[in-house]
Amino acid sequence: MHFLYVSANLNGSFQHRYIPGPGPLRSEEERILIKHGAAVRNVGITATGMYVPDRILTNDHLVQMVDTTDEWIRTRTGISERHVITPGTPASDVAKPAVLQALHNRGMKPEELQHIIVTTVTPDMLFPATACVLQEKIGAKNAWGYDLSAACSGFLFGVGVGCQAVASGAVDNVAVVGVDVLTSITEWTNRDHCVLFGDGCGTIILEAVPDEAPGIIDTVYKVDGSGGKFLNMLGGGSLNPPTHDTIDRRLHYLYQDGRPVFKVAATYMAAATTEVLKKHGLTIDDITLLVPHQANLRIIEAVAKKLRIPREKVLINIDRYGNTTSATIPMGLHEASKDGRITKGDLVVLTSFGGGYTWGAVLLRWGY
Ligand code: ACO
Repeated sequence: MHFLYVSANLNGSFQHRYIPGPGPLRSEEERILIKHGAAVRNVGITATGMYVPDRILTNDHLVQMVDTTDEWIRTRTGISERHVITPGTPASDVAKPAVLQALHNRGMKPEELQHIIVTTVTPDMLFPATACVLQEKIGAKNAWGYDLSAACSGFLFGVGVGCQAVASGAVDNVAVVGVDVLTSITEWTNRDHCVLFGDGCGTIILEAVPDEAPGIIDTVYKVDGSGGKFLNMLGGGSLNPPTHDTIDRRLHYLYQDGRPVFKVAATYMAAATTEVLKKHGLTIDDITLLVPHQANLRIIEAVAKKLRIPREKVLINIDRYGNTTSATIPMGLHEASKDGRITKGDLVVLTSFGGGYTWGAVLLRWGY
């Protein structure tokens, strides 16, 4: 048994010398350490899964709906098509196949899952949490969980809190489920917004892994509430409870002022990536793949330029899916691992920027 006593506040970053993964039976010493939050275990991604709805909305379809062109959408956003739900499909139905796939890929039964964190801004409803709905739908009868709301950075933040839950010994495994059905809050007559979004889900399983195994290395997380006015949905919460007036004022749709968001997104994602690498004496040349949030191809290209990272080391799939909000990064990770673009031992950085403002970066070493 190797234990590490942690006397200082972890302050959002993870120690690198950890306790090996637990068996179901823990020693008295382990239990005491875990009870006092003093144990820190190495945590890694052990499986991924993803799902997108079958229905595809191409740019040509959108041309028939609003005043736009395929050329404008492709050159201004990089998007050619997106997968969208049939109206009325809840986020939990989009999440279910992705989580079941991740569990299958790990060889884990739903009842072995201990914890579910659903990261989303389009939950099935305000409450109960989509995590609870999903828990029942997948038969994870021994899991507890909750929803985490941080717009496009939701999944990135979910990796951090999920990692800490496993590292502390509070749980032995967690499904971090990045799911969004932004098309359910998209105003289909507004060409500024309706061309941007798609629906989907990406899921990872986080588990304690042996001390020497690759895993989550560190995180950098930031929030700036002054950006809230540029990206939001103002209706439906306690600020603007639903009334005929809030419907008339279209407050139940996503609102985005794209230009100010565009200006800061690339700068902040590049800065967070540099910060997390610098903390570990690494440079961009050390990483195999950068997985950025997919909001706009021009933003991704600007991040790559600022970081001086070649395009072939940057994951890009926005052309096929559009902006799926919380799902872009785990869907990208799933595809990269399936295609062999990342293999065991590779250093990977995830970075995102979104509503809040929220942004950050996660540094990890791929484990399988
Ligand atoms: N088709 C044709 N023309 C359009 C369309 C369209 N679909 N949409 C806008 N235009 C027009 C505008 O009306 C404008 O016309 P004007 O010059 O006559 O006024 C012109 O195109 C340029 O508009 P801009 O808003 O300046 O276009 P821009 O190049 O900034 O692209 C976009 C807009 C794609 C939204 C961009 O600003 C962007 O990607 N912003 C950041 C998005 C982002 O990162 N969001 C964060 C994550 S989302 C989340 O957290 C939920």
